[in-house]
Amino acid sequence: MDDTDQFLLNFKGFNFERTLIDIDVLENLDNFEIRDDDVFIITYPKSGTIWAQQILSLIHYEGHRNKTENVETLDRAPFLEYNMRKVDFSKMPSPRIFSSHIPYYLAPRGLKNKKAKIVYIYRNPKDILVSYYHFSNLVVRLQASDNLEQFMKQFLDGKVVGSRWFDHIRGWYEHKHDFNILFMKYEDMKKDLKSSVAKLCSFLGKELSEEDLDTVVRQATFQNMKDDPQANYNTILREEIGARNNDGHFMRRGTVGDWKRHLTVEQNERFDKIFQRNMKDFPLDFTWDLSEQ
Ligand code: A3P
Repeated sequence: MDDTDQFLLNFKGFNFERTLIDIDVLENLDNFEIRDDDVFIITYPKSGTIWAQQILSLIHYEGHRNKTENVETLDRAPFLEYNMRKVDFSKMPSPRIFSSHIPYYLAPRGLKNKKAKIVYIYRNPKDILVSYYHFSNLVVRLQASDNLEQFMKQFLDGKVVGSRWFDHIRGWYEHKHDFNILFMKYEDMKKDLKSSVAKLCSFLGKELSEEDLDTVVRQATFQNMKDDPQANYNTILREEIGARNNDGHFMRRGTVGDWKRHLTVEQNERFDKIFQRNMKDFPLDFTWDLSEQ
């Protein structure tokens, strides 16, 4: 048995986290009942999922914006496949928000009616690599690596939850016409959060006043989310997911270009070659460092 098998469960060619997944849920994904006003946040891990959960919760729920309701973003936008709190999704009031890392080909059939909406957040894969490396060493349910080199090999081989990043983004992008989907770039959100929130509102058909828009932006900044127990996942990480130490957080750095502090010149060149090979002719562009723009 491969070391990774202890942590990963492969279902139809895609790697899920073994201990949190319920095989029945996977078997029934195709038939999962979609409502026309459902919204799905879909990401490859470490691309800003919890950021999107917070933004969408703030856009959709007045009680989240003005803090009159104390609900964690995990409950506002639960994971479709990792239903840790065993929520009965059929009883959730509309509009429901879900989060998910699934590949396009495992998406519930009902999403293809193109009424329900998907927000796909993507991020440059070198920052994902670094974020994922730290996260894997933090979370007890993921395989730790001795060094970045070891993790980089696993990541590039797709021996991680989410499988190969290249396949995930290519799959969703190349099948975008089958869905009602908006692609949002992490780095654009970082550069201009207000415009990104406005774009999301327009896609979601939610009209917010200027004041509400500012409130969403303020509460979705890295620092405010880091300090906000409803959004920072600190309790969930410690009490439900399980952490190897007390220093790590989901809200780690939240920057663009952190990979420059971690990858050697050789690793970077190797990554570039593999990136070129896999992403040649891919229409979406990636932002590797904001200072370069
Ligand atoms: P880093 O590890 O690079 O800091 P996910 O939610 O998909 O697991 O992604 C987590 C990554 O998103 C982490 O990246 C985290 O810091 C970043 N993130 C979360 N909220 C953010 C925010 N408000 N602004 C910028 N980055 C954020």
